[in-house]
Amino acid sequence: MKETSKQQQLEAIAEEIRKCTKCNLAKTRSKAVPGEGNPDSQVVFIGEAPGYWENVKGKPFVGAAGKILDEVLGKIGISRSEVFITNVLKCRPPMNRDPRKAEVEACIPYLDRQLEVMKPRFIVTLGRHSSAYIFSKIGKPFSSISKVRGKLHVVNLWGSTVYVQPTFHPAAALYNVELKRDLEADLRLLKHELDRLQKRS
Ligand code: URA
Repeated sequence: MKETSKQQQLEAIAEEIRKCTKCNLAKTRSKAVPGEGNPDSQVVFIGEAPGYWENVKGKPFVGAAGKILDEVLGKIGISRSEVFITNVLKCRPPMNRDPRKAEVEACIPYLDRQLEVMKPRFIVTLGRHSSAYIFSKIGKPFSSISKVRGKLHVVNLWGSTVYVQPTFHPAAALYNVELKRDLEADLRLLKHELDRLQKRS
């Protein structure tokens, strides 16, 4: 059988997402936002859900929160094109309200499939929604970002060692310099570990 590349597999999932009608958000969205980035990256960032501009453009983190993310990534020397960025929900909840349980249940298989294709070595969860989901997946209790951030959680997924890094959502850091500083410190840990692994290989 002909082997399909990660890019082809991710694009097939993205096509399904663009046509998805599994929950009510399909009725209010303009564009679904499957995620984007380097399909062969070792690093996947997971946000919460598309906001206003993401819904317009069909791309993740292109609004105000995206500017913060770009700024912090730029500062620590990680390029957006090196990583893959996706969300728990692929469609915007009206007025940017919190994701509902039924929406998460309908949408999460897409995230699971994206992760299964990529099998990343690093998963960065931005905010409590993606952090809570990934912690449930790895069987760890999750109460708040503040309690679990500041370190890489070493876990086993897909039969390999995976580093999970929960941190604040860039939108929370928008008007809070302390959270922005913590977000930056967390991503520096990621960069440090990435560099360390790269030197070894
Ligand atoms: N906030 C998110 O969680 N994801 C996006 O793509 C944009 C804003």
